[in-house]
Amino acid sequence: MPELNWQSPLSISASHRVWWTHDALSNNGDFWREVLAGLEGHCLAFVDSGVAAAWPNLPQRLHELFQKSGASLHLHAIESMPGGEMCKDGLQHAERVARACFEHGVSRRGCVIAIGGGAVLDTVGFGAAMAHRGVPVIRVATSTLSQGDSAMGVKCGVNQFGHKNALGTFCAPHAVICCERLLSTLPFEHWLGGFSEAVKIALLKDESLFSDIESAAPALVARNMDAARPILRRSGQLHRDHILKSGDPFEQGSSRPLDHGHWAAHRLEALSHWQLPHGQAVAIGMALDSCIAAHLGLCSEQHCNRLLHLLQSVGLPCWNPLLNPLSRLHEGLEHFRQHLGGQLALALVTAPGAFVEVNDLSLPALQAAVNRLEAMQRQTTGRHDGT
Ligand SMILES: NC(=O)c1ccc[n+]([C@@H]2O[C@H](COP(=O)([O-])OP(=O)(O)OC[C@H]3O[C@@H](n4cnc5c(N)ncnc54)[C@H](O)[C@@H]3O)[C@@H](O)[C@H]2O)c1
Ligand SMILES: [Zn+2]
Repeated sequence: MPELNWQSPLSISASHRVWWTHDALSNNGDFWREVLAGLEGHCLAFVDSGVAAAWPNLPQRLHELFQKSGASLHLHAIESMPGGEMCKDGLQHAERVARACFEHGVSRRGCVIAIGGGAVLDTVGFGAAMAHRGVPVIRVATSTLSQGDSAMGVKCGVNQFGHKNALGTFCAPHAVICCERLLSTLPFEHWLGGFSEAVKIALLKDESLFSDIESAAPALVARNMDAARPILRRSGQLHRDHILKSGDPFEQGSSRPLDHGHWAAHRLEALSHWQLPHGQAVAIGMALDSCIAAHLGLCSEQHCNRLLHLLQSVGLPCWNPLLNPLSRLHEGLEHFRQHLGGQLALALVTAPGAFVEVNDLSLPALQAAVNRLEAMQRQTTGRHDGT
């Protein structure tokens, strides 16, 4: 028997601050003073290469804003980070961020600013989390997906061992900024892709958001920012509320509603060697989960068809040839089961705004769902071919 046993609760409190702004780089030193408050010493910025190419004046603007803010923080260097899933390929880019913190004297009192899509935010966040066991990070989200989902969370990580987000950590950002102006140059495929996470959170939690996305679909496809704004903000708010208020921000339990559609999405991304974007993969994963729910009698046929129609109307895919053969896809389910610690917990939607958790999924049910999506795909391509 041990002679001593000390047990006490350990609680960590942090403030989670998010700003939605039309233009984070406008002439507003006051805004940046508020964002940078409490930080001092040296700071580094990493800019997504896609953003850097579209906004060549960004480094100069950032230096000017730092000066105007009067912050006790010196912006030492601005570096480029390969945009997209490429930067999450193993540890090299995250390690580069950590190394740069030492080279530029960035301490736990300073910060790293990550400007870009979800992949760059994940990689830079992970690099900064490793340096000194956690340099504060400011996330400037420049994609629909990062604004409506990923930037709100407390996770970061990279892909390794052929697994999505295999290495990573939980780390709350010092600040999150969602910038509408930077969003304007996001490539169209990624613009559409981000709405998949809005559809996901609407499916799980908010029937009225689901109907709003249905009504806004043509405007979203036309890239109308006035239509996109309320949807992205509501999606970001619902993701944030779930993470901060549901009692399990660090995912210690096995219940993962926000991972709806993600077991298949992550598998398809890996099978595509990271060519299939996350947003599109999640759309396919949701289509699959919805067909599974319909097959199991957990949701109505009408609901399943309504979701498939919505995905198509916002230009998102419901099918990918990598869904076949089933054995390869099924491995993704096993990976998810292992990730959860041995007991599967899939959130399946029963109607917009409601879901149940299932702890088992049979191969015939999975096969039936894949068959349904394949048949739908054949019908659509047949129609396009005029056959
Ligand atoms: N940490 C989390 O909680 C969490 C949650 C959801 C998703 N994610 C991750 O987010 C990533 C997907 O993020 P994403 O959809 O933003 O895609 P992305 O980061 O892969 O970016 C897509 C492309 O758009 C470019 N780009 C981004 N913003 C731009 C802009 N404003 N102008 C021009 N080009 C721009 C990038 O260079 C890239 O080529 C995935 O890796 C996913 O795993 C993380
Ligand atoms: Zn996701």
